[in-house]
Amino acid sequence: MNVLTDIVVRPMRWWDIAGVHDLEAEAFPDTAWSAETFWSELAGVPETRCYFVARSDDRVAGYAGLMTVGSDADVQTIAVAPQFRHRGLGARLLDELLLEATRRGCSRATLEVAASSDDAQRLYRRRGFAVVGRRSGYYGPGVDALIMRLRLPGSREAGGASP
Ligand SMILES: CC(C)(COP(=O)(O)OP(=O)(O)OC[C@H]1O[C@@H](n2cnc3c(N)ncnc32)[C@H](O)[C@@H]1OP(=O)(O)O)[C@@H](O)C(=O)NCCC(=O)NCCS
Repeated sequence: MNVLTDIVVRPMRWWDIAGVHDLEAEAFPDTAWSAETFWSELAGVPETRCYFVARSDDRVAGYAGLMTVGSDADVQTIAVAPQFRHRGLGARLLDELLLEATRRGCSRATLEVAASSDDAQRLYRRRGFAVVGRRSGYYGPGVDALIMRLRLPGSREAGGASP
């Protein structure tokens, strides 16, 4: 089913935080951000942050956030509620972040992803991210992070994923 027509993607606002935090706790049970962290992240919009939320009626279907510093963009977080997965919403949210990074003149996007998170790694690979490193125990004992990177179109270095 490819029915994203029932979902609105728009910039996240403070009144989305409660629903976003509920999904965060479900998607990342061991490492969930607090609601205060989302408040703090939104305080950085638009200077160094950009956040999107996807809503279906009153429910938060997904969200994603970006940090930009100079020519570097970092995908801070991305999650889709289980009942809305496998419909292209994760890709849509990631595309919004990458478009914003390009608009801001960033030349590369970097992210950390749990080495055990196959769904997320496939999503990033589909968009051209490649693994450039590994952080041992980043998410806790025995839970490594892969560092993935994408050269953004329009940058002079576009075309590769090298560090
Ligand atoms: C990773 C995550 C955000 C992906 O969200 P999603 O909305 O399911 O992503 P997409 O729908 O774009 O892609 C997922 C799969 O559905 C497929 N798909 C997309 N549209 C589809 C459609 N209309 N019909 C059938 N399949 C479809 C994609 O091809 C993809 O397949 P693949 O995994 O075999 O490559 C989601 O699984 C999630 O929230 N996971 C938990 C949190 C997490 O790990 N976040 C990443 C932190 S780094």
